[in-house]
Amino acid sequence: MKPPRPNYDHGRPVQDVLPSGWLTAEEAKLLTRLAEGQLVLEIGSWLGRSTVAMARAAFHVVSVDHHRGSPEHGPQVRTLAGFLDNLEQFGVREGVSVCVMDASHLITFFKPSLFGLVFVDGGHDFGSVSRDLAAGFELMAPGGVIAVHDYRPSTTSRSGVVTSSWPQVVAAVDNFVARSVFAISERVVDIAVLRA
Ligand SMILES: C[S@@+](CC[C@H](N)C(=O)[O-])C[C@H]1O[C@@H](n2cnc3c(N)ncnc32)[C@H](O)[C@@H]1O
Repeated sequence: MKPPRPNYDHGRPVQDVLPSGWLTAEEAKLLTRLAEGQLVLEIGSWLGRSTVAMARAAFHVVSVDHHRGSPEHGPQVRTLAGFLDNLEQFGVREGVSVCVMDASHLITFFKPSLFGLVFVDGGHDFGSVSRDLAAGFELMAPGGVIAVHDYRPSTTSRSGVVTSSWPQVVAAVDNFVARSVFAISERVVDIAVLRA
């Protein structure tokens, strides 16, 4: 028997109703809104926090992750079993196609112009983000949207120290925007939404 589907946003903290991960409640709500009725490509799923947030509203989510973590997570990370458990537990298993693969193979395995929403949250180095944005652009349906997590431009402290948590994500998004017809149309916490 399926576990009961948890209620979303009925005054409970978001971590009670989504798997653990890094998305804030506002970011999760944004993804749910953007995903509504869409075929979604997610690059980087971890334990499924963003996957579940989108699958609740999407037509269907295609999740792409090799489930070995990124360099910043350490060498021994394996998230596939926990991810599959969470899809079951949060009642969205049938709404998600799970592709355990490296994102570098996306263009080989998927047809162009498929997805209404592409969510980019895989590798956070300049090369990976640039590659995933390029793939997302090619695989996106006309009029589609790309959302990128961890877009947090630099802040300058009072002592003049300039920091950005993910400078290479910011650099890759800015470079993509400068060279394409896309612009940042919306920002919610650290998600940048790109539209043509
Ligand atoms: C920051 S986590 C994703 C967090 C997730 N979106 C959430 O809301 O909790 C990044 C994920 O990207 C995956 N990843 C990193 N590089 C990848 C690559 N080249 N191909 C496929 N997955 C990759 C890692 O395995 C990891 O699960």
